Amino acid sequence: MNENINYAYFEGNFVPLAEAKVNIMTHAFLYGTAVFEGIRGYWNEVQEEMYIFRLREHMERLYDSMKIMNLELDFSIDEICKLTVELLRRNNPRTDTYIRPSVYKAAQRIGPGLHDNPSKLCMFTVPFGDYFHGAPGLKVQVSSWRRVEDNAIPARAKIVGAYANTALAKTDAVKAGFDDCIVLSENGHVSEGSAMNLFMVRRGELITTPVCDNILEGVTRATIMEIAAAELGLSTTIRQVDRSELYIADELFFCGTGAQITPIIEVDHHAVGNAQTGPICEKVRDAYISICRGEVTKYSKWLTPVYKTSKLAAARS
Ligand SMILES: Cc1ncc(COP(=O)(O)O)c(C=O)c1O
Repeated sequence: MNENINYAYFEGNFVPLAEAKVNIMTHAFLYGTAVFEGIRGYWNEVQEEMYIFRLREHMERLYDSMKIMNLELDFSIDEICKLTVELLRRNNPRTDTYIRPSVYKAAQRIGPGLHDNPSKLCMFTVPFGDYFHGAPGLKVQVSSWRRVEDNAIPARAKIVGAYANTALAKTDAVKAGFDDCIVLSENGHVSEGSAMNLFMVRRGELITTPVCDNILEGVTRATIMEIAAAELGLSTTIRQVDRSELYIADELFFCGTGAQITPIIEVDHHAVGNAQTGPICEKVRDAYISICRGEVTKYSKWLTPVYKTSKLAAARS
């Protein structure tokens, strides 16, 4: 193990990231037939520890995505979690890190079928700071692109090919001068952000969109509902949301592994509240970040320490 090399897990081995290359005839490259996860590792400088946030929940969702896409691995969820820790231990980062496992259809052939088509796992890690930059918050548009429908490409599975939909929506928004966008379902109800879930506050009520409106069933979304109930005494209403509610909301914020918790201050040029981070968003965000960084022992059940785990394993062997 060389400390200067960034390793990837590829075709059953840990190899330098630069050597982890797929053939251009690979099915997933030709047809988008792969699923993935985006996971964060938070560096805690004081404890000199890297905490992976809700690793198991992410891997459980990866396996759900795999099931939908007829992908199969010989690994159990526990084994893939251990592999993730091992990759991070080898890469030895001392900064916030993004972890990207993908499971992909690896046949080298023409034809979109998922059958008789072997599945492979790969994973890499990269340093990762804030996904969105700049205070006080985001100016977004409601996209003219609709979210992929469950009967077309299920949004609850994190399918690589489905991110063409995300890319179109995000790119249009940025080209039009917005930071990001909110997408609607074909039925006209609010779905989510380009690659984030959405929360709204109206008259003190915390609201988020339902899983049947083509959202990814977000780990951060579930976390926020738990934190809001436990720390703020605020239960979340899960219900369909109309576009025009966005224009009169008191608060709106995106959430996701990448976005973490990011306030929205304008939708289609309508100010959200007083165009500042709202009080509920601020409280939830502060609690969320300190939990992710391992500063709140009550929530350590959500954290996988990378270096302590590997020290314990070394001590045992
Ligand atoms: C389309 C989409 N929605 C929502 C989310 C948020 O999910 P999570 O909180 O599990 O990261 C993501 C990923 O970050 C996403 O890609």
